[in-house]
Amino acid sequence: MGGPLGSYGAYARFYDATQGDRAGHATYIRSLLKKHHPRANTVLELACGTGSILEQLQSSYDVTGVDLSEQMLAIARKKLPGVRLVRSDMRTFDLGERFDAVLCVYDSINHLTQFRDWEAVFRRAREHLNDGGIFLFDINTVHRLASSSGAPPMVQWFGDGDMMVIAIVDAPRGAVDWEINVFERVRGSTYRLHLDVIREASFPTERIRAALRKRFTRIWTYDARRARPSARTDRLHFVCRA
Ligand SMILES: C[S@@+](CC[C@H](N)C(=O)[O-])C[C@H]1O[C@@H](n2cnc3c(N)ncnc32)[C@H](O)[C@@H]1O
Repeated sequence: MGGPLGSYGAYARFYDATQGDRAGHATYIRSLLKKHHPRANTVLELACGTGSILEQLQSSYDVTGVDLSEQMLAIARKKLPGVRLVRSDMRTFDLGERFDAVLCVYDSINHLTQFRDWEAVFRRAREHLNDGGIFLFDINTVHRLASSSGAPPMVQWFGDGDMMVIAIVDAPRGAVDWEINVFERVRGSTYRLHLDVIREASFPTERIRAALRKRFTRIWTYDARRARPSARTDRLHFVCRA
């Protein structure tokens, strides 16, 4: 059982149980927001998914979310009653409103496999920012995708005897496919398989910086695990000032 490529149609139902509340990442994002825009009030998250990050930021910010997956948004709506959550494509959305910060995290931008789509997101983010506002996003680096592809599958038990197996395999034009297999325990040793395939691509940091420089006045990069980013950085955070 699975949805169209990258729809999260099958995986949405299991996302929170397998990814947890994402508190560590939310704390890191909050620290970057505080450092670069201490007076920010309004935050828009692109590709907000089930709303885990927004849920943790909503005590400090007026939050809004955009995502393409109806299944992910349905879960977010239950967690964030009263919050504006819009089903739209982050490459083309137009909310007719500006924010102090725009976020796009947990390698959501890697879900776009063409660089012109990344540039479309940069344009939409800039259009939705107040002057002096910040666009904060993270990526799985080229290094991370290349080193994960073909590695032994990751296995995670969760819930009441449910199991997730993720295999990362090569896809065309340098992309990789995350094959997410969820074995939902129905009863005893009977399982139902839910399969979603999420394609990701990445691009060299210098190419990303060059595209960002056309639209933002300053760009900073961070690796949460190191004092500064290196060739071995797996997840790179960008902070860009409008
Ligand atoms: C890994 S999840 C991240 C969710 C959330 N940001 C978090 O940190 O938990 C990636 C999300 O990107 C969304 N997505 C993928 N392509 C999209 C697009 N073109 N426009 C909007 N959302 C998209 C998916 O529906 C999914 O919810």
